[in-house]
Amino acid sequence: MAAGDEQTTGKRPIRSFVRREGRLTAGQQRALEVLWPMFGLEQPPADQPLDLDAAFGRQAPRVLEIGFGNGESLAEQAAAHPERDYLGIEVHRPGVGHLLMELEARGLSNVRVMMADAAEILRRHIPDGSLHGVQLYFPDPWPKKRHHKRRLVQPQWVREVAAKLAPGGFLHLATDWANYAEHMLDVLETEPALVNSCGPRQFSPRGERPETKFERRGLRKGHRVFDLYYRKPRAAG
Ligand SMILES: C[S@@+](CC[C@H](N)C(=O)[O-])C[C@H]1O[C@@H](n2cnc3c(N)ncnc32)[C@H](O)[C@@H]1O
Repeated sequence: MAAGDEQTTGKRPIRSFVRREGRLTAGQQRALEVLWPMFGLEQPPADQPLDLDAAFGRQAPRVLEIGFGNGESLAEQAAAHPERDYLGIEVHRPGVGHLLMELEARGLSNVRVMMADAAEILRRHIPDGSLHGVQLYFPDPWPKKRHHKRRLVQPQWVREVAAKLAPGGFLHLATDWANYAEHMLDVLETEPALVNSCGPRQFSPRGERPETKFERRGLRKGHRVFDLYYRKPRAAG
């Protein structure tokens, strides 16, 4: 990897998460053992690209969801869009187990799952121009100022997302932290490869995005929810 390819303090990469294992239910444990071979993808060695045509066994518009939590909204979207393939990446094992159970219960075949740092997978293993969409719903807000550097949405990450999107592809973000929503606007509005679908500095309607677990938690606390929706324009002419 070239120097400066990732945000670092000294030599250690700044991560957007802290691994807290949490307890697995018996169902999640079983799902990780039995269903992982069906739906799980391992990180390729070195900087090799993921072969998503092989992983899904077809060619289809591909949507990446980063940090899917318990995966319920991802499973709901995959069920609503059988014509799309969904790649979900999450570091939290119980959440991955939960999604696997949901995929089995719903009989879904258009989802693949990775248990890895999504920022690293995006940067190193997703081919440029290969994604129809990227979804980031209720990312960890890292509310303390000294932790803001851990927030996933940073100029370099947005540049990378834009490169991975196919022309016409979308980036959909949602957060219930007003301060993070403003930060997202600040960062996204300065990315020349993406255009705000609702006009400069405008938030978006939620559209058909299903409610997520963290969203419900925020709403119970009285938080407002902010959606942001950007597209990579198709080449003119
Ligand atoms: C606040 S939760 C939101 C989960 C879900 N999207 C929801 O709305 O219910 C953020 C999730 O992002 C995951 N996460 C944070 N950074 C990540 C990364 N770099 N790669 C993969 N998952 C990440 C965390 O493990 C956590 O489950």
